[in-house]
Amino acid sequence: MGGHTINKIENGMESTMPDLSAMIPPQLLSTLPFEGKSKDAVLDILASFKAHDVPWKSGRMFGFTYDPGEDAMDVAYDGYMRFLTENGLDWTVFPSMHKLETDLVAIARELLRGDKDVVGSCTSGGTESILCAVKTARDYCRAHKPHITRPEIVLPETAHPAFHKACSYFGVTPVLTGYDPDTFRADADAIRNAITENTILIVASAPGYAQGVIDPIRAVGAIALERGVLFHVDACVGGFHLSFMRRMGHDLPDFDFSVPGVTSMSADLHKYAYAPKNISCVLYKNRDLRFFQYFANRRTTCYAIINSAVLSSKSGGPYAGAWAILNYLGESGYRRVIEKVQSATKKFMDGVNAIDGLRVLGNPEMCMFSFVSDRYNVFEIADRMREKKFYVQPQFTHGVTPANLHISMDWASADHVDGALQALRETVNELDSSTDSINLADIRTHVRELVAQLGPDAETALREMAGISDGGLPGKLALINSVMDALPDEMAEYILTNYMNQTFA
Ligand SMILES: Cc1ncc(COP(=O)(O)O)c(C=O)c1O
Repeated sequence: MGGHTINKIENGMESTMPDLSAMIPPQLLSTLPFEGKSKDAVLDILASFKAHDVPWKSGRMFGFTYDPGEDAMDVAYDGYMRFLTENGLDWTVFPSMHKLETDLVAIARELLRGDKDVVGSCTSGGTESILCAVKTARDYCRAHKPHITRPEIVLPETAHPAFHKACSYFGVTPVLTGYDPDTFRADADAIRNAITENTILIVASAPGYAQGVIDPIRAVGAIALERGVLFHVDACVGGFHLSFMRRMGHDLPDFDFSVPGVTSMSADLHKYAYAPKNISCVLYKNRDLRFFQYFANRRTTCYAIINSAVLSSKSGGPYAGAWAILNYLGESGYRRVIEKVQSATKKFMDGVNAIDGLRVLGNPEMCMFSFVSDRYNVFEIADRMREKKFYVQPQFTHGVTPANLHISMDWASADHVDGALQALRETVNELDSSTDSINLADIRTHVRELVAQLGPDAETALREMAGISDGGLPGKLALINSVMDALPDEMAEYILTNYMNQTFA
């Protein structure tokens, strides 16, 4: 790449990288005050911390939050606050926690068409549900397939990173399989071929987060039965939304316990059931399997523990918040939400496809999708959308999937599709006339050269090139994202970890 472009990029970023300490008034970075502050002062200061957050209440945020609208949110919050202090550590002390958890699991089981044998637990989110499913499969196989000493899970590359985290935590090797480059669905034949005598679990998603498409669950279920392996369907985002869509008569492939071979599922309440965080469900085909999720210990001077999932002490707030919103909206309420969200999603996807140079990937079934550009740097689109107060989520290049922008719709953002499309059109017009765009191909070449020259020592140069300063929070992300996009996975992970390690106290 020409030195000119790099200089321009580096100079450009210098002025747009505010330092964290400049953004937060110094008195707020202080230590514990000796004299306490008044309630008003405390709450005012807390409110001021949000000054630089993306304003999720605006409905202009297409990811990260799931906003059911003010009235439903109020009910969920009230329910949440009423159970904030109740502790799920011991439901013999708080039988209310047993009631809440069994109700939530029963509702999820019914929606996901589990039979009477299907059981489950609530967890703090999709990641904990997935950690539990992998740990359960590992320990089930330790008991039933003791020949397995090097456990593996077969994992489509489109599956959520939480599975990689589970592998890393629990000493399991992920065996990655590909996907169709047009539909972005996991390749069932590749899953079959990747199964070995060490396989403890195979995985598919309904849908995968990135492109929002449902994997071929029936085909993978048949493989699980044929090969006698456990099969987890990750329906963290889709579990509730897709089930309601199915009940409303939408034509969807089967993705739940109705599919023979499915042995466990995850479904997050804090996503498209619109519950406040942190709450998800993990469900199992039967109690014999769930047995291996539990952890009991009475080998210390401490009280005995019997934990269903990873957390021990846990607030009842998320459980009650979820129970409140499910019962407040009821099935008819969710149907109303879905009708609005699905029609807004279609309008958004059609609008994106109508913009020259932008294209939606695959054929997403629910309310999440991603789009690419063969003309513009998508990371710059994200930054410019943010300047226009719309938040869209960048996703990196992976294999045959180019860098793209992800959209998750919810009840609140469904009202902002026209505005977002208008902002997108303005953004591409601006980029058409921009003379200092960040050229992804140039960045890629330059990054490759640096990595080839310096190997692991390239970190400092790469951080400089990306404009990453120690302890600072970036204002604009296009350059950082462009550099990260070009890096080999391991180096990107290392740099991000180092950056995080330096940024937090
Ligand atoms: C398909 C899928 N699985 C798992 C997760 C992890 O969920 P959480 O962020 O609640 O841990 C996500 C998060 O978006 C997801 O989309």
